Amino acid sequence: MIILPGLIDPHVHMRTPGQSYKENFSTGTKAALAGGFTTVIDMPNNSTPITTEKLLDEKIKIAKKQTVCDIGFHFGSLGDNLDEFKKVSSKAKALKIYLNITTGGFIVDEKVFESICKKWPKGKVIIVHAEENILDVILKIGNKYKQKIHVAHVSSQKELSIIKRAKKKRWMVTCGVTPHHLFLEKSDEKKLGAFAKMKPALKTRKDQEFIWKNLMYVDIVESDHAPHTLKEKKSHPQPFGIPGLETTLHLLLTAMSKKRLALKDIKRLCHDGPAKIFNIKTDKKTYIEIDESEEWILKNKNLKTKCKWSPFDGWKMKGRVKRVFIRGTKVFENDKILVRPGFGKII
Ligand code: DOR
Ligand code: ZN
Repeated sequence: MIILPGLIDPHVHMRTPGQSYKENFSTGTKAALAGGFTTVIDMPNNSTPITTEKLLDEKIKIAKKQTVCDIGFHFGSLGDNLDEFKKVSSKAKALKIYLNITTGGFIVDEKVFESICKKWPKGKVIIVHAEENILDVILKIGNKYKQKIHVAHVSSQKELSIIKRAKKKRWMVTCGVTPHHLFLEKSDEKKLGAFAKMKPALKTRKDQEFIWKNLMYVDIVESDHAPHTLKEKKSHPQPFGIPGLETTLHLLLTAMSKKRLALKDIKRLCHDGPAKIFNIKTDKKTYIEIDESEEWILKNKNLKTKCKWSPFDGWKMKGRVKRVFIRGTKVFENDKILVRPGFGKII
Protein backbone atom coordinates (compact mmCIF):
# COMPACT_ATOMS: atom_id res chain seq x y z
CA MET A 1 0.00 0.00 0.00
CA ILE A 2 1.32 3.45 -0.96
CA ILE A 3 0.35 6.49 1.12
CA LEU A 4 0.28 9.98 -0.35
CA PRO A 5 -1.03 13.25 1.07
CA GLY A 6 -4.54 14.13 -0.15
CA LEU A 7 -4.01 15.42 -3.69
CA ILE A 8 -4.87 18.93 -4.86
CA ASP A 9 -6.36 19.71 -8.27
CA PRO A 10 -6.40 23.48 -8.79
CA HIS A 11 -8.17 23.37 -12.17
CA VAL A 12 -11.70 21.96 -12.30
CA HIS A 13 -15.00 23.13 -13.81
CA MET A 14 -17.87 22.09 -11.53
CA ARG A 15 -20.43 23.90 -13.75
CA THR A 16 -22.60 25.07 -10.85
CA PRO A 17 -24.37 27.46 -10.75
CA GLY A 18 -25.82 27.65 -14.24
CA GLN A 19 -25.07 24.29 -15.82
CA SER A 20 -25.75 21.78 -13.05
CA TYR A 21 -27.07 19.36 -15.64
CA LYS A 22 -23.42 18.80 -16.61
CA GLU A 23 -21.98 18.54 -13.06
CA ASN A 24 -22.61 19.86 -9.57
CA PHE A 25 -20.42 20.19 -6.49
CA SER A 26 -21.67 16.89 -5.10
CA THR A 27 -21.06 14.72 -8.18
CA GLY A 28 -17.86 16.58 -9.06
CA THR A 29 -16.29 16.31 -5.61
CA LYS A 30 -17.32 12.63 -5.32
CA ALA A 31 -15.34 12.12 -8.54
CA ALA A 32 -12.47 14.00 -6.88
CA LEU A 33 -12.38 11.63 -3.88
CA ALA A 34 -12.58 8.56 -6.11
CA GLY A 35 -9.56 9.95 -7.95
CA GLY A 36 -7.52 10.65 -4.78
CA PHE A 37 -8.10 14.42 -4.67
CA THR A 38 -9.11 15.92 -1.33
CA THR A 39 -8.94 19.55 -2.47
CA VAL A 40 -10.09 21.09 -5.74
CA ILE A 41 -10.23 24.65 -7.03
CA ASP A 42 -13.12 25.57 -9.30
CA MET A 43 -12.84 27.82 -12.34
CA PRO A 44 -14.99 30.94 -12.91
CA ASN A 45 -16.26 30.30 -16.47
CA ASN A 46 -19.80 29.49 -15.38
CA SER A 47 -22.67 30.38 -17.72
CA THR A 48 -22.67 33.70 -15.85
CA PRO A 49 -18.94 34.21 -15.24
CA ILE A 50 -17.86 34.75 -11.65
CA THR A 51 -16.67 38.35 -11.92
CA THR A 52 -18.25 40.00 -8.87
CA GLU A 53 -17.97 39.39 -5.14
CA LYS A 54 -21.71 38.78 -5.04
CA LEU A 55 -21.54 36.02 -7.66
CA LEU A 56 -18.58 34.45 -5.87
CA ASP A 57 -20.45 34.52 -2.54
CA GLU A 58 -23.49 32.88 -4.13
CA LYS A 59 -21.35 30.14 -5.60
CA ILE A 60 -19.59 29.52 -2.28
CA LYS A 61 -22.96 29.24 -0.54
CA ILE A 62 -24.09 26.49 -2.91
CA ALA A 63 -20.77 24.66 -2.76
CA LYS A 64 -20.82 24.65 1.05
CA LYS A 65 -23.96 22.52 1.04
CA GLN A 66 -22.85 20.14 -1.72
CA THR A 67 -19.16 19.45 -1.44
CA VAL A 68 -17.67 16.22 -0.05
CA CYS A 69 -14.05 17.38 -0.37
CA ASP A 70 -12.35 20.72 0.33
CA ILE A 71 -12.91 23.31 -2.34
CA GLY A 72 -11.65 26.76 -3.28
CA PHE A 73 -12.51 29.16 -6.11
CA HIS A 74 -10.77 31.18 -8.76
CA PHE A 75 -12.15 34.57 -9.75
CA GLY A 76 -12.74 35.79 -13.31
CA SER A 77 -12.37 39.04 -15.19
CA LEU A 78 -13.26 40.50 -18.55
CA GLY A 79 -11.48 43.71 -17.58
CA ASP A 80 -14.65 45.47 -16.43
CA ASN A 81 -14.55 44.50 -12.75
CA LEU A 82 -11.20 45.85 -11.52
CA ASP A 83 -12.87 47.38 -8.45
CA GLU A 84 -13.97 43.94 -7.28
CA PHE A 85 -10.37 42.64 -7.03
CA LYS A 86 -9.65 43.97 -3.54
CA LYS A 87 -12.98 42.69 -2.22
CA VAL A 88 -12.36 39.11 -3.30
CA SER A 89 -8.63 38.88 -2.67
CA SER A 90 -9.02 36.89 0.54
CA LYS A 91 -11.80 34.66 -0.85
CA ALA A 92 -10.40 33.77 -4.27
CA LYS A 93 -7.40 31.49 -4.71
CA ALA A 94 -6.32 33.15 -7.97
CA LEU A 95 -7.57 35.13 -10.94
CA LYS A 96 -8.22 33.22 -14.18
CA ILE A 97 -7.84 35.04 -17.48
CA TYR A 98 -8.66 33.60 -20.92
CA LEU A 99 -6.59 34.90 -23.83
CA ASN A 100 -7.88 32.24 -26.23
CA ILE A 101 -11.35 31.11 -27.08
CA THR A 102 -12.85 28.23 -25.08
CA THR A 103 -16.07 27.22 -23.26
CA GLY A 104 -17.99 30.35 -22.29
CA GLY A 105 -16.06 32.59 -24.68
CA PHE A 106 -14.82 34.89 -21.89
CA ILE A 107 -11.79 36.17 -23.74
CA VAL A 108 -9.70 39.34 -23.26
CA ASP A 109 -6.86 40.83 -25.31
CA GLU A 110 -3.39 41.81 -24.13
CA LYS A 111 -4.37 45.45 -23.51
CA VAL A 112 -7.10 44.39 -21.12
CA PHE A 113 -4.67 41.88 -19.59
CA GLU A 114 -2.27 44.72 -18.86
CA SER A 115 -4.99 46.77 -17.11
CA ILE A 116 -5.80 43.67 -15.05
CA CYS A 117 -2.13 43.20 -14.08
CA LYS A 118 -2.01 46.78 -12.80
CA LYS A 119 -4.90 46.14 -10.42
CA TRP A 120 -4.74 42.50 -9.26
CA PRO A 121 -3.20 42.34 -5.73
CA LYS A 122 0.52 41.48 -5.98
CA GLY A 123 1.56 38.11 -4.61
CA LYS A 124 -1.71 36.43 -5.59
CA VAL A 125 -1.51 34.30 -8.70
CA ILE A 126 -2.97 35.13 -12.13
CA ILE A 127 -3.71 31.95 -14.10
CA VAL A 128 -3.64 32.38 -17.85
CA HIS A 129 -5.11 30.32 -20.63
CA ALA A 130 -2.63 31.58 -23.25
CA GLU A 131 -1.73 29.35 -26.16
CA GLU A 132 1.26 29.59 -28.51
CA ASN A 133 2.27 33.14 -29.65
CA ILE A 134 0.23 35.15 -27.17
CA LEU A 135 1.98 33.38 -24.26
CA ASP A 136 5.24 35.23 -24.87
CA VAL A 137 3.46 38.60 -24.80
CA ILE A 138 1.50 37.73 -21.69
CA LEU A 139 4.56 36.60 -19.72
CA LYS A 140 6.33 39.86 -20.57
CA ILE A 141 3.37 41.90 -19.32
CA GLY A 142 3.14 39.77 -16.16
CA ASN A 143 6.83 40.30 -15.47
CA LYS A 144 6.56 44.05 -16.10
CA TYR A 145 4.02 44.28 -13.27
CA LYS A 146 5.80 41.71 -11.09
CA GLN A 147 2.78 39.44 -11.08
CA LYS A 148 2.94 35.70 -10.36
CA ILE A 149 1.70 34.03 -13.55
CA HIS A 150 0.59 30.40 -13.69
CA VAL A 151 0.26 29.09 -17.24
CA ALA A 152 -2.54 26.52 -17.35
CA HIS A 153 -2.44 23.41 -19.50
CA VAL A 154 0.80 23.81 -21.41
CA SER A 155 0.46 21.54 -24.42
CA SER A 156 3.24 22.20 -26.93
CA GLN A 157 7.00 22.28 -27.25
CA LYS A 158 6.75 25.95 -28.17
CA GLU A 159 4.81 26.90 -25.05
CA LEU A 160 7.02 24.94 -22.69
CA SER A 161 10.13 26.43 -24.33
CA ILE A 162 8.77 29.96 -23.71
CA ILE A 163 8.16 29.03 -20.07
CA LYS A 164 11.63 27.47 -19.69
CA ARG A 165 13.17 30.71 -20.93
CA ALA A 166 11.09 32.77 -18.50
CA LYS A 167 12.01 30.48 -15.61
CA LYS A 168 15.71 30.75 -16.48
CA LYS A 169 15.34 34.54 -16.25
CA ARG A 170 13.80 33.98 -12.81
CA TRP A 171 10.44 35.49 -13.75
CA MET A 172 7.62 34.49 -11.40
CA VAL A 173 6.16 31.89 -13.72
CA THR A 174 4.79 28.41 -13.03
CA CYS A 175 2.96 26.02 -15.31
CA GLY A 176 0.74 22.97 -15.41
CA VAL A 177 0.04 20.15 -17.84
CA THR A 178 -3.11 18.07 -18.14
CA PRO A 179 -3.17 14.28 -18.15
CA HIS A 180 -4.84 14.32 -21.58
CA HIS A 181 -1.88 16.17 -23.09
CA LEU A 182 0.45 13.66 -21.44
CA PHE A 183 -1.45 10.52 -22.45
CA LEU A 184 -3.32 11.40 -25.67
CA GLU A 185 -2.07 12.89 -28.92
CA LYS A 186 -3.47 14.41 -32.08
CA SER A 187 -3.69 11.06 -33.87
CA ASP A 188 -6.13 9.84 -31.18
CA GLU A 189 -8.69 12.35 -32.46
CA LYS A 190 -9.66 9.98 -35.28
CA LYS A 191 -10.78 7.26 -32.93
CA LEU A 192 -12.11 9.44 -30.12
CA GLY A 193 -13.90 12.12 -32.16
CA ALA A 194 -15.63 14.63 -29.88
CA PHE A 195 -14.17 12.92 -26.80
CA ALA A 196 -10.79 14.26 -27.83
CA LYS A 197 -12.08 17.78 -28.40
CA MET A 198 -10.71 20.17 -25.81
CA LYS A 199 -8.82 23.45 -25.49
CA PRO A 200 -5.90 23.46 -25.92
CA ALA A 201 -6.28 20.81 -28.62
CA LEU A 202 -4.23 17.61 -28.52
CA LYS A 203 -0.79 18.03 -30.04
CA THR A 204 1.73 15.85 -31.89
CA ARG A 205 3.74 13.00 -30.40
CA LYS A 206 6.80 15.25 -30.68
CA ASP A 207 5.18 17.91 -28.49
CA GLN A 208 4.10 15.26 -26.02
CA GLU A 209 7.57 13.74 -25.80
CA PHE A 210 9.09 17.17 -25.26
CA ILE A 211 6.79 17.73 -22.27
CA TRP A 212 7.61 14.32 -20.77
CA LYS A 213 11.34 15.01 -21.20
CA ASN A 214 11.02 18.42 -19.58
CA LEU A 215 8.73 17.44 -16.72
CA MET A 216 11.18 19.09 -14.31
CA TYR A 217 10.03 22.46 -15.67
CA VAL A 218 6.38 21.57 -15.06
CA ASP A 219 5.08 22.56 -11.61
CA ILE A 220 1.75 20.76 -11.50
CA VAL A 221 -0.57 18.30 -13.19
CA GLU A 222 -4.06 19.81 -13.44
CA SER A 223 -6.99 17.78 -14.72
CA ASP A 224 -8.97 20.63 -16.35
CA HIS A 225 -11.98 18.47 -15.38
CA ALA A 226 -14.51 19.91 -17.87
CA PRO A 227 -17.63 17.72 -18.09
CA HIS A 228 -20.26 18.07 -20.81
CA THR A 229 -23.19 15.70 -21.35
CA LEU A 230 -22.88 12.82 -23.79
CA LYS A 231 -25.64 14.42 -25.84
CA GLU A 232 -23.76 17.72 -26.08
CA LYS A 233 -20.56 15.95 -27.07
CA LYS A 234 -22.41 14.14 -29.83
CA SER A 235 -24.09 17.27 -31.19
CA HIS A 236 -22.73 20.18 -33.25
CA PRO A 237 -20.85 22.28 -32.42
CA GLN A 238 -19.23 19.90 -29.94
CA PRO A 239 -18.19 21.71 -26.76
CA PHE A 240 -14.55 21.75 -25.63
CA GLY A 241 -13.52 19.75 -22.59
CA ILE A 242 -13.33 16.33 -20.98
CA PRO A 243 -13.69 15.12 -17.38
CA GLY A 244 -10.46 14.18 -15.62
CA LEU A 245 -10.73 13.92 -11.84
CA GLU A 246 -11.08 10.13 -11.74
CA THR A 247 -8.39 9.42 -14.31
CA THR A 248 -5.52 11.84 -13.50
CA LEU A 249 -3.87 9.91 -10.67
CA HIS A 250 -4.73 6.52 -12.12
CA LEU A 251 -3.02 7.41 -15.42
CA LEU A 252 0.02 8.67 -13.53
CA LEU A 253 0.18 5.52 -11.36
CA THR A 254 -0.06 3.39 -14.51
CA ALA A 255 2.78 5.42 -16.04
CA MET A 256 4.73 4.91 -12.81
CA SER A 257 4.30 1.14 -13.14
CA LYS A 258 5.95 1.52 -16.58
CA LYS A 259 8.76 3.59 -15.00
CA ARG A 260 7.83 6.75 -16.90
CA LEU A 261 7.88 8.73 -13.66
CA ALA A 262 8.41 8.12 -9.93
CA LEU A 263 6.12 8.39 -6.91
CA LYS A 264 7.98 11.51 -5.80
CA ASP A 265 7.09 13.14 -9.14
CA ILE A 266 3.40 12.39 -8.59
CA LYS A 267 3.61 13.90 -5.10
CA ARG A 268 5.37 16.99 -6.44
CA LEU A 269 2.96 17.48 -9.36
CA CYS A 270 -0.34 16.67 -7.64
CA HIS A 271 0.32 17.90 -4.11
CA ASP A 272 3.45 19.92 -3.27
CA GLY A 273 3.32 22.07 -6.44
CA PRO A 274 -0.35 23.08 -6.22
CA ALA A 275 -0.12 23.59 -2.42
CA LYS A 276 2.79 25.99 -2.85
CA ILE A 277 1.45 27.93 -5.85
CA PHE A 278 -2.06 28.39 -4.47
CA ASN A 279 -1.05 28.68 -0.83
CA ILE A 280 -3.06 25.73 0.43
CA LYS A 281 -2.55 24.54 4.00
CA THR A 282 -2.20 20.79 4.27
CA ASP A 283 -3.11 18.48 7.12
CA LYS A 284 -1.22 15.36 8.22
CA LYS A 285 -4.48 13.47 8.73
CA THR A 286 -5.58 14.14 5.14
CA TYR A 287 -4.12 11.36 3.01
CA ILE A 288 -4.87 8.61 0.50
CA GLU A 289 -4.06 4.91 0.39
CA ILE A 290 -3.25 3.34 -2.96
CA ASP A 291 -2.91 -0.31 -3.94
CA GLU A 292 -0.09 0.05 -6.46
CA SER A 293 -0.44 -3.51 -7.74
CA GLU A 294 -4.17 -3.62 -8.56
CA GLU A 295 -4.81 -3.98 -12.27
CA TRP A 296 -8.23 -2.84 -13.45
CA ILE A 297 -10.12 -1.44 -16.40
CA LEU A 298 -11.59 2.04 -16.35
CA LYS A 299 -15.26 1.93 -17.34
CA ASN A 300 -17.60 4.83 -18.06
CA LYS A 301 -20.45 3.26 -16.11
CA ASN A 302 -18.42 3.26 -12.87
CA LEU A 303 -17.56 6.97 -13.00
CA LYS A 304 -18.93 9.31 -10.35
CA THR A 305 -18.84 12.41 -12.54
CA LYS A 306 -22.34 13.30 -13.72
CA CYS A 307 -21.34 13.12 -17.38
CA LYS A 308 -20.42 9.40 -17.09
CA TRP A 309 -17.90 9.24 -19.90
CA SER A 310 -14.17 9.51 -20.32
CA PRO A 311 -11.82 9.36 -23.30
CA PHE A 312 -9.95 6.76 -21.21
CA ASP A 313 -12.92 4.35 -21.13
CA GLY A 314 -11.57 0.81 -21.51
CA TRP A 315 -7.98 1.72 -20.56
CA LYS A 316 -6.04 -0.78 -18.49
CA MET A 317 -4.86 0.85 -15.27
CA LYS A 318 -2.33 -0.31 -12.71
CA GLY A 319 -2.64 1.15 -9.21
CA ARG A 320 -5.90 2.22 -7.58
CA VAL A 321 -7.09 4.56 -4.84
CA LYS A 322 -8.52 2.37 -2.07
CA ARG A 323 -9.14 4.74 0.84
CA VAL A 324 -9.22 8.51 1.36
CA PHE A 325 -9.07 10.34 4.69
CA ILE A 326 -9.81 14.02 5.35
CA ARG A 327 -8.75 15.40 8.75
CA GLY A 328 -8.80 11.86 10.12
CA THR A 329 -12.28 10.92 8.81
CA LYS A 330 -12.49 8.09 6.30
CA VAL A 331 -14.38 9.67 3.39
CA PHE A 332 -13.91 7.05 0.66
CA GLU A 333 -13.31 3.31 0.64
CA ASN A 334 -13.44 0.74 -2.17
CA ASP A 335 -15.41 2.94 -4.53
CA LYS A 336 -17.90 4.15 -1.88
CA ILE A 337 -18.28 7.74 -0.68
CA LEU A 338 -18.70 7.64 3.11
CA VAL A 339 -19.65 11.26 3.89
CA ARG A 340 -22.60 13.48 3.08
CA PRO A 341 -22.58 16.57 0.86
CA GLY A 342 -21.46 19.48 3.03
CA PHE A 343 -18.65 17.52 4.70
CA GLY A 344 -15.93 19.36 2.77
CA LYS A 345 -14.62 22.78 3.74
CA ILE A 346 -14.42 25.97 1.75
CA ILE A 347 -10.78 26.95 1.60
O1 DOR B 1 -11.39 22.06 -22.97
C1 DOR B 1 -11.66 22.98 -22.20
N1 DOR B 1 -12.82 23.00 -21.53
N2 DOR B 1 -10.78 23.95 -22.05
C2 DOR B 1 -11.06 25.06 -21.34
O2 DOR B 1 -10.23 25.94 -21.29
C3 DOR B 1 -12.38 25.24 -20.72
C4 DOR B 1 -13.04 23.94 -20.48
C5 DOR B 1 -14.52 24.06 -20.18
O3 DOR B 1 -14.90 24.86 -19.34
O4 DOR B 1 -15.29 23.31 -20.80
ZN1 ZN C 1 -10.10 24.78 -17.71
